[in-house]
Amino acid sequence: SANINVMVAAANKAARGLVRDFGEVEQLQVSVKGPGDFVSNADMKAERVIKAELKKARPDWGFLMEESGADEGRDSRFRWIVDPLDGTTNFLHGIPHFAISIGLEREGEIIAGVVLNPITDELYWAEKGQGAFVNDRRLRVSARRDLSASLFATGIPFKGRPGHAAFLRQAAQVMAVSAGLRRMGVASLDLAFTAAGRFDGFWESGLHPWDIAAGIILVREAGGNVTDLKGNADPLKTGTILAANQPLHATLMDLVGPKAEPPAARAQTADTPASTG
Ligand code: IPD
Ligand code: CA
Ligand code: CA
Ligand code: CA
Repeated sequence: SANINVMVAAANKAARGLVRDFGEVEQLQVSVKGPGDFVSNADMKAERVIKAELKKARPDWGFLMEESGADEGRDSRFRWIVDPLDGTTNFLHGIPHFAISIGLEREGEIIAGVVLNPITDELYWAEKGQGAFVNDRRLRVSARRDLSASLFATGIPFKGRPGHAAFLRQAAQVMAVSAGLRRMGVASLDLAFTAAGRFDGFWESGLHPWDIAAGIILVREAGGNVTDLKGNADPLKTGTILAANQPLHATLMDLVGPKAEPPAARAQTADTPASTG
């Protein structure tokens, strides 16, 4: 649709800059936002490019962006939720696994999402009710039910942030019963890979809306189930996410959700966004 075209054009334009910067990563200026949490001028530049492109196409719509925050538009129904560079740590280490993530919300509901990996040229996109795609190929979550054959993805909350200790327990449980666990470092692509059936499920805590807004609709439109770690429908509210195919969603929640927490830890389990923690 027209919105998807606008999102793809903005992502492609920013991607050209990111690919250039990725080629000379040692030239970038890097600053520290918190323990293990970095940002560079490549992130900033990509964000400016995306904002300018989206604003040119839809002058009245609002923004929620990782580096520049919220910017309410004249039309308060629509909001772009943007991570200009998801996977900054990979990027700065020369690891070619990162993405641009753009979600579109209408009255609080995600109605479209685009996740672009500029290195592999995989463009993941979805629109409400229209299905999910990578380039022109339709996406479908995996059909696997057997836990011992299933491959999961996760992310590790930044050191010192809520959820770090709980993560270690969750990962141990999943590793004990599954075929394996991956920590690839890019939440938007973890969700895209889940939508594509490469991962059978994904969970993480301490995330922000820009990490997951686009990925959520990819998984849902590919037939998967997405909630927060407690099973609530809106992961943007708590910053925890659990995405999987339908049969494995409940199984994964048993392993990493509140039921799996020891009673003492349950009271203080992190389910708040990292910004408040
Ligand atoms: C990070 C990535 C990572 C996830 C972190 C995010 P950034 O985003 O999505 O996979 O584990 O929680 O903050 O900072 O590279 O855009
Ligand atoms: Ca960041
Ligand atoms: Ca991110
Ligand atoms: Ca980012």
